[in-house]
Amino acid sequence: MTTSSSPRAGQGVSLGMPELPAPGYPDDVRDRLERDAREIIARYPDSRSALLPLLHLVQAEEGHVTRTGMAFCADVLGLTTAEVTAVATFYTMYRRKPSGDYQVGVCTNTLCAVMGGDAIFEALQEHLGVGNGETTDDGKVTLEHIECNAACDFAPVVMVNWEFFDNQTPAGAKHLVDDLRAGRPVTPTRGAPLCTFKETARILAGFPDEREGAADAGGSAGHASLAGLRLARGETAPARVVHPREGGPHDTPRDAAGHRPSPAEHLSSHDAPQDTSASDPAHPAGPAAEEGE
Ligand code: FES
Repeated sequence: MTTSSSPRAGQGVSLGMPELPAPGYPDDVRDRLERDAREIIARYPDSRSALLPLLHLVQAEEGHVTRTGMAFCADVLGLTTAEVTAVATFYTMYRRKPSGDYQVGVCTNTLCAVMGGDAIFEALQEHLGVGNGETTDDGKVTLEHIECNAACDFAPVVMVNWEFFDNQTPAGAKHLVDDLRAGRPVTPTRGAPLCTFKETARILAGFPDEREGAADAGGSAGHASLAGLRLARGETAPARVVHPREGGPHDTPRDAAGHRPSPAEHLSSHDAPQDTSASDPAHPAGPAAEEGE
């Protein structure tokens, strides 16, 4: 491990003006972080592979990744702070400014958005009086948009410090943040018990979660995630196929032999009726006519 007198330590990215070296940690904090850093680095054949967990480690110390934290990572790994900064600014899980004890992320990717994620985000903005990436005055909650967390089957999803709160509603999400701010116990829908952002960052650095019940947490996928698997295994009755009503507007005509094409032969039985040029001969598809033609 290099020392703080290394020429690389504290070296900043400069745009014309020389940047002052980042202030160091107090000696006792640095000693403690160095012990943890040694443990993390020992897990990898190449020390620079430890950069991601080390950034979580310094985030656990201050609640976000500071210049001091990045200089520390550069120092112990023998990297430049420019290299560390490039990584820290690439991943959204590293925060670059002070944040709340609870990072409340609302998934606003397509599926969650249409299932109510956008409405939840708007409701929380108004309820908390903060915008995206902002923290409430009491320092408890930081609100932000998050990207898809592969929990689309439980949409709309809210995550608090990366723990899942499934099938949320605007009213439920407001209740959730009220409980967090008031210090009332809050239990994620599945997975580990909730902890603060700094505690979460330490777990992400690779240190065990020693809280009661945490070791047994995690569980398995929820019912919605397993529905397809059960169907494939024949453990669930196949979905009921609904044929268009005979003689109705979406009836599939029989062929000359009196055979009516099955849904598999034409349109999925779950698809909405499609208006195409075949079904709407008065408006055939084709290249748009130039104006004046
Ligand atoms: S779109 Fe929200 S979890 Fe996938």
